[in-house]
Amino acid sequence: MNYPTEACLVEVGPRDGLQNEATALSVKQKSTLVDYLSASGLSVIETGSFVSPRWVPQMANSADVFQTIQRKAGVRYSALAPNERGLQDAIAAQASEVAIFVAVTESFSQKNLNASIEQTFERYKPVLEVAAQHELPVRGYLSCVLGCPYEGNVDPAVVSALTQRLLEGGCYEVSLGDTIGTGTAGSTARLLDTILSGGVSAHQLAVHCHDTYGQALANIVVALQHGVATIDSSIAGLGGCPYAVGATGNVATEDVIYLLEGLGIQHGVQIPALLKASDYICTQLGRETQSRAGRALSLNR
Ligand code: HMG
Ligand code: MG
Repeated sequence: MNYPTEACLVEVGPRDGLQNEATALSVKQKSTLVDYLSASGLSVIETGSFVSPRWVPQMANSADVFQTIQRKAGVRYSALAPNERGLQDAIAAQASEVAIFVAVTESFSQKNLNASIEQTFERYKPVLEVAAQHELPVRGYLSCVLGCPYEGNVDPAVVSALTQRLLEGGCYEVSLGDTIGTGTAGSTARLLDTILSGGVSAHQLAVHCHDTYGQALANIVVALQHGVATIDSSIAGLGGCPYAVGATGNVATEDVIYLLEGLGIQHGVQIPALLKASDYICTQLGRETQSRAGRALSLNR
């Protein structure tokens, strides 16, 4: 079986993880987490979100978080931007890149963005234009690619068409979000086969697996076998989505690192430093890590 020689982890804990916490963490707590993560060797860190504070109050202090982090050379600090205002705020915060997000079903689009899929593409036109003027890379997310909490199964052809549309619109990469974690190795393979046979190449894709059904690592192995080498993950398995009730956190970064180690795939992350980041955030939240590998590795430290 062919695997990529190296993988890039996109750490989404400070955004996807913390957006779902009942209590919003302070600027200091968030920036300290981001600094622990960058110290571990992670090179892409989704640091915050410039969305409406009415919709996601947990992310309201993102501008201050961006101002407080100790930026490390070579690390990209990204932010979600759902509209032009979010983009302007991300530019002011000196985010290294932004991410826009589109749902693959109308129901999820309404719940997450208060707009139809078509309206979200309209909304993103100026975002993509202004980002290009500022030479700011834009990542695209698709939500519910392997199942929707409101509409159930999703047709891979629909996901494939939306992936192409985001790439043609100017996104450098599309992250395929299994928002509610219902995907399996089988459905992941069918989805990737469909997208890749449509002309998109594996290096334009990332996988973003929530681990609700415990299938994330299996799905990531399938993605790696398809040549997809960018993997979103969340320290200690933090997270969920406020508009997908019951969806748990993203696959834990520690679990993905352990998987990559076993496959001999380079990742650039130092495990002891990663465990410090995990210890820090779990202590702040008063909660145990959701990472099985993290727990085992900590016991053997
Ligand atoms: P809306 O209510 O239709 O829009 O929301 P609006 O223009 O009427 O704005 C509502 C209020 O928000 C107004 O304030 C605006 O000024 C303000 P008010 O007058 O009521 O005081 N506002 C903003 N404030 C700060 N920053 C902004 C901004 N925009 C408007 N950028 C909107 C539409 C898109 C704004 C809203 O639906 C929204 O913010 N949605 C974001 C939802 C979200 O963040 N979801 C979680 C992230 S996506 C995710 O987790 C999935 C992912 O992980 C992949 C996966 O797992 O699938 C990425
Ligand atoms: Mg997510």
